[in-house]
Amino acid sequence: MKVIVLDTAAQIGEEVGKIFVDQVNAKPDSVLGLATGMSPVPTYDYMAKEYAAGNVSFKNVTTFNLDEYCDLPKSDKNSFYSFMVDNLFSRTDVDLNKVNFIDGNAEEKAECERYEKAIENAGGIDLQLLGIGTNGHIGFNEPADEFTQHTYKVKLTDSTIASNQKFFGDVPMPRYAMTMGIGSIMKAKKIVLIATGESKAKAAYAMIKGEVSPSCPASVLQNHEDAVIFLDKEAAKLL
Ligand code: F6R
Repeated sequence: MKVIVLDTAAQIGEEVGKIFVDQVNAKPDSVLGLATGMSPVPTYDYMAKEYAAGNVSFKNVTTFNLDEYCDLPKSDKNSFYSFMVDNLFSRTDVDLNKVNFIDGNAEEKAECERYEKAIENAGGIDLQLLGIGTNGHIGFNEPADEFTQHTYKVKLTDSTIASNQKFFGDVPMPRYAMTMGIGSIMKAKKIVLIATGESKAKAAYAMIKGEVSPSCPASVLQNHEDAVIFLDKEAAKLL
C-alpha cells in the first residue's frame, strides 16, 4: 500500500485525475471502476478539463460503478447513475453504451451474478477509484464479521445514512444498496483510494495502520499489490 499525503483535495483531484488520464491514453479501451460521493468530484473535474482541452478521449472506455441504491429509480436525481452523468459522463465523451451499473431495483441474486459476469467478460477492472466511509467502508461494504466476496445487497448502517441523508434533503434516503463485494474490488489491477477531510482521519488510520480486518473493510487494501492511498492533511492527521 503506497500512501501519499497532499495539502488539499484539489491537489489530490489533479494527481488522481492524471492517473486516470494516463491510464486511458496508454490503453484507450481501459476498464475503469468508478465511485460516487464527494471524494472523486475533483478527479472528475480534472478528467473533464483534460477532455475539453483535447488531451484525452474516453470514448472507448468501459466503466463499472461500485454501487447503486435499491428502491430508487435510475432516473432519480439522487441515484448514483444520475451523479455520474452530472459529474463525468455528460462532461466527457464516455459512451453511455459502455457504462455499467448495478440495477438496485432488480432481483438480487440474478442481478449480482449478472454484474460479476459483466466485469469478468470485460476483462476485469484495470483501474478502480475508491472513497472511504467514516466507518471504513469501501463501496457499500460496511464493517462486518467477514470480508464479502461478490456483488450483493447490503443494509446500510446508521453511520452511512447519517453521512448520505444530506443529499436527499427531507426525503428519507434508501436503506438498502447493492455493491461490488470486497473480493470484486480486490480483483482490480490497480486501486486508487481518496480520503479527504478530518471526518475520515480515524478510518484512514485504521485502514493504513490497523490490522487487516473486516471491522475496517478498507484495511483489506493492505493486501493489494498495487493500491495507492491519497490523503489530504486533515485525513492524515492521526498518522
Ligand atoms: C460511493 C461509495 C462510497 C463512498 C464513501 C465516501 O460510490 O461507494 O464508499 O466512496 O462513502 O463518500 P464521500 O466521498 O462522499 O465521503
